[in-house]
Amino acid sequence: MTPASARERHTDLSLQIQQHDRAYYIDARPTISDPEYDRLYRELVDLETAHPDLRTADSPTQRVGGQPLAGFTQVAHSVPMMSLDNTYSSEEVQAFLARAQKPLGDAQLRWTIEPKIDGIAVSLRYEHGHFTIGATRGDGTLGDDITANLRTIRNLPLRLTPAEGIPVPELLEVRGEVFMSLTAFQKLNAERAAAGEELFANPRNSTAGSLKQLDPRLVAKRPMQVVVYGIGAVTAPEVPTRQADLLAWFRSLGLPTPERLWVAHSPDEVVQAIAELDTVRRSFAYETDGAVVKLDDLALRERLGTTSKAPKWAMAYKYAPEQAETRLRAITIQVGRTGALTPVAELEPVFLSGSTVSRATLHNEEELRRKDIRVGDVVVIEKAGEVIPAVVRVVPERRTGAEVAFEFPRSCPECSTAAQREKTTSGEGAVWRCTNPHCPAQIRGRLEHWCGRAAMDVEGGGEITVQQLVSAGLVRDVADLYQLAAPAIAGLERMGEKSAANFVAGIDASRSRELRRLLFGLGILHVGAGTAKALARHFPDLDALAAASPEELMKAEDIGEVIASSVHAWFRDEANRLLIERLRTAGLTFTSATYRPPTAVAGGPFAGKTFVLTGTLPTLKREEAAARIEALGGKVSSSVSKKTDYLLAGEEAGSKLDKARTLGIAILDEPTFLQMASSTEPQG
Ligand code: IVH
Repeated sequence: MTPASARERHTDLSLQIQQHDRAYYIDARPTISDPEYDRLYRELVDLETAHPDLRTADSPTQRVGGQPLAGFTQVAHSVPMMSLDNTYSSEEVQAFLARAQKPLGDAQLRWTIEPKIDGIAVSLRYEHGHFTIGATRGDGTLGDDITANLRTIRNLPLRLTPAEGIPVPELLEVRGEVFMSLTAFQKLNAERAAAGEELFANPRNSTAGSLKQLDPRLVAKRPMQVVVYGIGAVTAPEVPTRQADLLAWFRSLGLPTPERLWVAHSPDEVVQAIAELDTVRRSFAYETDGAVVKLDDLALRERLGTTSKAPKWAMAYKYAPEQAETRLRAITIQVGRTGALTPVAELEPVFLSGSTVSRATLHNEEELRRKDIRVGDVVVIEKAGEVIPAVVRVVPERRTGAEVAFEFPRSCPECSTAAQREKTTSGEGAVWRCTNPHCPAQIRGRLEHWCGRAAMDVEGGGEITVQQLVSAGLVRDVADLYQLAAPAIAGLERMGEKSAANFVAGIDASRSRELRRLLFGLGILHVGAGTAKALARHFPDLDALAAASPEELMKAEDIGEVIASSVHAWFRDEANRLLIERLRTAGLTFTSATYRPPTAVAGGPFAGKTFVLTGTLPTLKREEAAARIEALGGKVSSSVSKKTDYLLAGEEAGSKLDKARTLGIAILDEPTFLQMASSTEPQG
C-alpha cells in the first residue's frame, strides 16, 4: 500500500469507527454488529502498525491508554469552574427564584431542571473539533491536566461529529461530569474483592480514584462515561442562547448530554419538575443526588452574574438521603490508629442507595446514650452522599423489651489496656482512647493510613495484607515496610508469589512519593491532607520542617497555634525522630517537590505580608486579587487572625470585617489596594 492510499484508508476507517461509536454510545442505536466493528478496528490497528505516523493522538486506537505520566500538569481554566449553591428545602428554591426575578423586573423567566450528576466535574476542550485538553475542576481556577485518562473514556468523542449542516466550532469548551454506572462499579468491586484489593466505597470514589491514576493503561480498564451540561470558552459562528438549545447543540456535535431536561415557566412548575425528576432519576445510568435549576436564557444569566463561588442564576436542590430500617444485631468496638474506641453497629444486611449495608458507625458513647440505642433495636439508617452509613434513630414502637443497653468498655478490646477519656478544653470529651502505642489495632491503623490512597498510596497495602503482616510479627511500624522481602511475605495466607512481588513493588514505588503524602501518612494529630500540603509548600524539606519552632510553623498558610504545637511536639518525640531516621535510611523522599519559596519583592509593602480577602470587590475578581498579592510577595490566608496584616474588603463583607476591626488590622478597599500594588510593581 502506498503511503497516500494508507492515509486515505486510515481517514476512512477512523471516520467509520467514530460514526459507529457515536451511534452506539451517544444515540444508543448501534449500526453494525460487534464482530463487524472489531474487524474495522483490527484493520485500523494493523494499518497503524505498518504506518506508525498515522497513529495520531485522537485516533480511535488511542483509547487503550498511552505512556504513564510522572505527574499531572496544571491547566488554567479560561472560564472559572464554579460550584453551586445547594439546599434541601423547596422554600429555599422558591426564595432563590424570587431573588433571581427581582433584578430582571417582570420578564417572564424560563427555568430548566436537570439531574445533578454525582460524578467528577471535568472541562473538555475541543479545538477545530479535536479533543485537545481535558482537566479536573481543581480549585476552580487551576485544575489537573487529565487528557490522557479522559481519552480512554469510550463515550467521549475524540473528534466532534457534527450532524449535517452544523459547522464545527473553532473552539468549544464543555463542562460535564465523569461517572461510573452502578452496575459497572459493582462489577469492578467484585473483581477487586476477588483479587484481594481494597474496595471503593461508591461509584463516585472509584471514578475519582481512576481519574487520578498516572497510568492511562490502567484507567482504560475502568468503565467510566462522561455527560456534559455546560459551556466554558467558545468561538463559533452561532452559539445557542438557551440551555435547552445548548444541550441540543452538544448532542448534534456528538457529545453525550443528560437524557432528560424539564422546562418550567413558573416557581410552581419548577417545584413540580424537581418532584418528577425524583421519580425517574433511579433509572439513569449515573447516580444523582439532586436537581439543578438553571435560568434558561444565557443572556439573562450574564445580568445576574455570580458570587465568588457560585452563579446567581443556578441552584441545586438535593434530595433527602435514602433511609432504611433494619435490626441492630450487636455493637462492636473498633480501635482506630489514634487509639479512639468507636462503637460500630452490626446490622442485619439491608439494601440502601445502591449497596448492601451491614455496618454503620455509632460515633461515640455519648451518641449511643443520647439516641438510647440498644442491642436488638430496630433502627433507621441513612447514607448521605459518600459518608459511611449512620444510625439516625431507633424505632421505639418496635421494641419488645428484649433489647439490652450497651456497656461501653473501659479498656481496649484489642490489648486490654485501660482506656482514657479524652480531655478537651471544655472538660471531658466524648472519645475514649486506648493509650498503648504498641496496641496491635493502632499499629494496623497507622499502617493502613500510611498505605492509603491519599497518603503513600501503596498498591496492595489494604486492610487484609496489613492485618496479616502485623499478626505474623513482620511489621510493627511504617519503617518496617521498607525492610520487607518478597519471600517472607509470600508465605502469608492468600498471598502467593505474584501478589507478594506486587506488594513489594508497591512499597518500593512509595519511596518516591511527594513529601506532602509522607507528612499526611505520618498521622500527626491535626495534620490532614490539606495541612500536609500547606506544610510541604512552605518548607523545602522534612528537616527544615522538623527543626521549625511553632512560630515558624505558623508562618505557613492556614497553620494556627493548635496545628503548629502538635507538629512541633511530634518532632520532639524521641520515638518519632527515630522513625524519621529509619525512613531516611530506607530512601524515602524528604525534599518537597511543591516547595514555593516566598517570591518577596524586596522593599515593597507586600513582602512577607499576609492578606485576607472578603466581600465582593468592585472590579477585581477574588482570584485576580490573590494572584496580584502573591506575585508581589504577599500571602493570602482564608481566615483573620493576629497574623493578618491587611484585610482587603469589598461589598457585603461579613464576620471577617468585624473580626479584623476587633483585632485592629488594617482594612483596605480596592482603590487603596491597587494603588499600593502599582507602587510596588517591579519596574522595567
Ligand atoms: S452546572 C457554574 N449542572 O455539581 C456551575 N453542575 O455542586 C455550573 N453537577 O461543580 C454547574 N450535575 O460538578 C451543573 N446538571 C448539572 C450538574 C452539575 C452535577 C456538579 C458540578 C458542580 C457541582 C456543584
